[in-house]
Amino acid sequence: MLIAANWKMNCLKADAILLASHIKSGFSGKNTLVLCPSFPLLAVVSGVLAGSGIKLGGQNCHFEEKGAFTGEVSPEMLKDIGVDYVIIGHSERRAGNNETDELVRKKAVAAIKAGLKPIICIGELGEERKNGKTQNIILGQIEKSLPEGSGYVIAYEPVWAIGTGLTPTSEEIAEVTGLIKQKKPQIEVLYGGSVTDSNCMEISKISNVSGFLVGGASLDIGKFSKIMNV
Ligand code: PGA
Repeated sequence: MLIAANWKMNCLKADAILLASHIKSGFSGKNTLVLCPSFPLLAVVSGVLAGSGIKLGGQNCHFEEKGAFTGEVSPEMLKDIGVDYVIIGHSERRAGNNETDELVRKKAVAAIKAGLKPIICIGELGEERKNGKTQNIILGQIEKSLPEGSGYVIAYEPVWAIGTGLTPTSEEIAEVTGLIKQKKPQIEVLYGGSVTDSNCMEISKISNVSGFLVGGASLDIGKFSKIMNV
């Protein structure tokens, strides 16, 4: 399994060091584990994780290699400091930073070119699920957000499940991940959205689910110890 921890805009230096140390000492090595702290914490967390085999991920990147893009971070910069993964197209960025499917694809292509493995997020809104549009939305995002070929991972994250404590049923997750696999059989699919220590075992058993993208519960060492070693 691939377990990615999305710390979002949380933790100051001391919190990050403590959390990463606990994660390092509790990690069994059974899964591939990726910690995605905010940009300023990457170097700090990298120092703590040295020698552990735990990987680092960014939470976003630009699609250009360098240049006059104030406030942006390029995939090459992430690669250069030892980062291996990058989350792209998270729904919080799609909604809050106007990231379109086309932009998500551009970023993913650039990240792959720089030697990073993008974790590309797709998922329907609650309203879209209620209206029976889930399949169409997912198919549209597959077509428009994903690059050609391989070298990336997909995270299926129903937007209504993120940070809400709500999750789709196992059947609903299986239906969407099955659809994704039909279109992209060679790509690993993660599930994200209110993954906790109490539901991770059940979700891990769903066929076509190869791991998790975990937000809130990845900041709680008690909960995350169980998830990362599932
Ligand atoms: P959550 O967030 O686990 O807190 O629902 C998941 C995510 O945003 O990737």
